[in-house]
Amino acid sequence: MSSEQQARVYQPSAEAVSRARVSGMDAYEALCAEADRDYEGFWARHARELLEWQTPFTQVLDESEAPFFKWFADGTLNVSYNCLDRNVKRGDGNKTAIIFESDDGKVARVSYADLLVRVCRFANALRDMGVKKGDRVIIYLPMSVEGVIAMQACARIGATHSVVFGGFSAHALRDRIEDAGAVALITSDGQFRGGKMLPLKSIADEALDSDAAKSCKNVIVLRRTGADVNMVEGRDHWMHEVVDGQPDTCEPEWVGAEHPLFILYTSGSTGKPKGVQHSSGGYLLQAAMSMRYTFDIQPDDVFWCTADIGWVTGHTYVAYGPLACGSTQIVFEGVPTYPNPGRFWRMVQDHKVSIFYTAPTAIRSLIKASENNPDCAPTQYDLSSLRILGTVGEPINPAAWEWYYENVGGGRCPIVDTWWQTETGAHMITPLPGATPMVPGSCTLPFPGIQAAIVDETGADVPNGHGGILVVKRPWPSMIRTIWGDPDRFRKTYFPDDFKGKLYLAGDGAVRDKDTAYFTITGRIDDVLNVSGHRMGTMEIESALVAHDEVAEAAVVGRPDELTGEAIVAFVVLKGARPTGEAASQKVKELQQWVGKEIGPIARPKDIRFGENLPKTRSGKIMRRLLRQLAKGEEITQDTSTLENPAILDQLKGNG
Ligand code: WTA
Repeated sequence: MSSEQQARVYQPSAEAVSRARVSGMDAYEALCAEADRDYEGFWARHARELLEWQTPFTQVLDESEAPFFKWFADGTLNVSYNCLDRNVKRGDGNKTAIIFESDDGKVARVSYADLLVRVCRFANALRDMGVKKGDRVIIYLPMSVEGVIAMQACARIGATHSVVFGGFSAHALRDRIEDAGAVALITSDGQFRGGKMLPLKSIADEALDSDAAKSCKNVIVLRRTGADVNMVEGRDHWMHEVVDGQPDTCEPEWVGAEHPLFILYTSGSTGKPKGVQHSSGGYLLQAAMSMRYTFDIQPDDVFWCTADIGWVTGHTYVAYGPLACGSTQIVFEGVPTYPNPGRFWRMVQDHKVSIFYTAPTAIRSLIKASENNPDCAPTQYDLSSLRILGTVGEPINPAAWEWYYENVGGGRCPIVDTWWQTETGAHMITPLPGATPMVPGSCTLPFPGIQAAIVDETGADVPNGHGGILVVKRPWPSMIRTIWGDPDRFRKTYFPDDFKGKLYLAGDGAVRDKDTAYFTITGRIDDVLNVSGHRMGTMEIESALVAHDEVAEAAVVGRPDELTGEAIVAFVVLKGARPTGEAASQKVKELQQWVGKEIGPIARPKDIRFGENLPKTRSGKIMRRLLRQLAKGEEITQDTSTLENPAILDQLKGNG
């Protein structure tokens, strides 16, 4: 262990070690050794232990069409059967599956038996509309029990869902409906967030108003807010009406393990979001396995992952993982700061949450809030039910880690800092709570079986202590299968020729500690920003900006931000004169709103600066490195002699 790390090592408590499924580093190493010895056998053993197969698989990993890997390909199963029927058959029908708390604090409990019936009725309704195996269904819903039901119902009939986060715009929603060729859309009249009522159906209507979205024949609408909505005759149906009178049971569609369970769009380094396609068997295996190893889930736990179902974290650790393990979990409609910033802690206390999983951004904003409002600090609540904490989505700064550890976990609870991605399906590098000594800011060691490594541009391993490119050397069951409709982009993006197509390129930079070999993620190495744990492509935001009538050119970069991790900074050249002073402030507001409308509020640039031009090399390439320095407010120290027009650097320092 390096001296720098030595001072900051946190050992898991004796209690955490003694009760954990993977107890102590020897147990962790034994699992890794098992995978080293017999890679396929390791995953096959877990696939048999954790999932119920309709037809047992005889093949494990099929690499014949690499990098289009297949896992357990001749086995058949149903994901919803594994998440619901299996638990009811085991005698857990009365166990609470979901504790739903609404924005305004109302609580509803749904048992496994209830959930199964509601999923079956909805699945029957979908079938009645003609939705069948392989069809794509878009889900555009707020955090709700119905959101989980919709996902599970699609899984039950073999339809491939694609959830679109409720904060995305009509434009973004339309792109996804079109790209997926969806036959149905499930949405709600509106949503409640932080005491406000926001529309959804009207946005969906706008999205559907295009020729290309004509594939979408049915729209099912959840009544949530009671807002007036326009229902299109023959196309739109109320959810409560279509499930009414449906049978309580629904024969699951048994699908091959490789059948696409879902497509989830995420940002990449081009303007067009990628439809990340996931499998059924391999995906569910690692969802369940990480619940057991990373979260050490036990029958009496109350699990709470605060992520929205619109993100991958809400897929694996809300809609699938907890249910596949028969656990009780919280589904929360609202926001962490409403009615006050003690909301999370009050809910942990009331519902006796034992495992809590959230994003560093949320932690940082709650640190600040509890300084301003000490009554809402976690220490004001009884959080003794907690036993494991987790973080995901972005690097956590050591100060936030320590605050979380001391103030939320009372210095007792291990923190699992889980590194993974939409594409990986489940945790890839993470401490195990009863085994791994923790170092704040480091996601520590690979999940058992995962061959993570750091390489240079040629794909050669770099020694510990040196930064490099994060890769995964062997395929794993829950990995992305392809980019929907664009297998070539899949291959080029994730298995590039630079690495002879053999290594999975994560898109992150990382470094391993000289002594412990612990991984620390240093951030994206492509044109992807991470704002509050949400992935945003710089090109996507640039395309949105140049779609504005008055914008001639735009370049977007990130700059470090204390609260959101990264903030979006846009450099814009207008077609007309460069605005200054009040006119510039007005234009900034207008363009921020424009991007919000084009993509969604999360994509709004925090800072927009106007120039008569952008800094370019003589060959016309935008010098992004200079823009990053300008965004940070740093003096330009690099050589600017290749710059065509050095004077514009002054303009881009601010809108003076
Ligand atoms: C970042 C979210 C540091 C990383 C599950 C990755 C992290 C991207 C961590 C994926 C972590 C995620 N430490 N960085 N523990 N977890 N990231 O697809 O840059 O929304 O590539 O998946 O988030 O974001 P995505």
